[in-house]
Amino acid sequence: MSDNLLTKICLSIGFPIKSSKSPSLHTVGYKALGIEDQFVYLRVEVKPENLKMAVEGIRGLGIRGVSVTMPYKQEIMKYLDNIDETAKKIGAVNTIVNEGGKLIGYNTDWIGAVVPLEKRTNLKGKKVAVIGAGGAAKAVVFGLTKRGARVKIFNRTIKKAKELAEEFNCEFSDLSNLEGVSRMDIIVNATSVGMNEDKSPLEKKYLNKNQFFFDCVYSPVETKLLKDAKSKGAEIIYGIEMLLYQAVEQFKLYTGLDAPVEAMRKVLING
Ligand code: ATR
Repeated sequence: MSDNLLTKICLSIGFPIKSSKSPSLHTVGYKALGIEDQFVYLRVEVKPENLKMAVEGIRGLGIRGVSVTMPYKQEIMKYLDNIDETAKKIGAVNTIVNEGGKLIGYNTDWIGAVVPLEKRTNLKGKKVAVIGAGGAAKAVVFGLTKRGARVKIFNRTIKKAKELAEEFNCEFSDLSNLEGVSRMDIIVNATSVGMNEDKSPLEKKYLNKNQFFFDCVYSPVETKLLKDAKSKGAEIIYGIEMLLYQAVEQFKLYTGLDAPVEAMRKVLING
């Protein structure tokens, strides 16, 4: 029997945390690599008033890695010892790694957005419409501009579109003014529209078959936007791919090993 004092603990924290897919994703990864006696992954619901104490607990208990979800991705930054440059630029941390007692904050959400797209198409010089200007959109816009895409942000609240566009040197527009959308190569939905509802942020008339569609919403797996795009003959990328690749990057940070991508994808596809 293995000695559990050698087992490294990883966690997901958030509030609420019930629907997090991360524990099963990481655990399947450990099993596929035969390291389930070296790592264990749990989820913990942390009440807002306990966040600071929870971070002290990570240090005190020597927790190896922590995935941070809503609503703490920004607030947690002030309790960490170091923030990597990319996470600073995005202004959010979704991953904490405990390096010998020092807590380092990273952001892997942008990788989750970029890798699935890059596997299908070259992003350099591509015209990309990002719909939304919240936290998810910021990680997406960061990744796309880093890869040399030409991004235009469309958002319901124009002030937020303008702020994000100025930060990353992009164009922007009101979500009610969708004129340019049909001429874009790639459309990314980074709003919450379509999450557990049969709604799309874009009317079908704006979609065409030469475009790529990527939805950050992953529940349902096939959102209305993606259904509409598919029916036009366009290429689509499911939101679960973003979830997968942000976790793949976390897995590497926590274990130092390459994640078993296919085994982890199966968890998301099979629920
Ligand atoms: P997240 O961290 O998931 O990105 P967020 O920061 O609250 O969450 O951002 C949510 C995004 O979805 C915003 O761009 C929001 O638009 P506003 O900036 O106008 O609020 C967008 N959004 C949410 N509900 C929407 C709706 N019904 N129609 C259009 N956009 C919506």
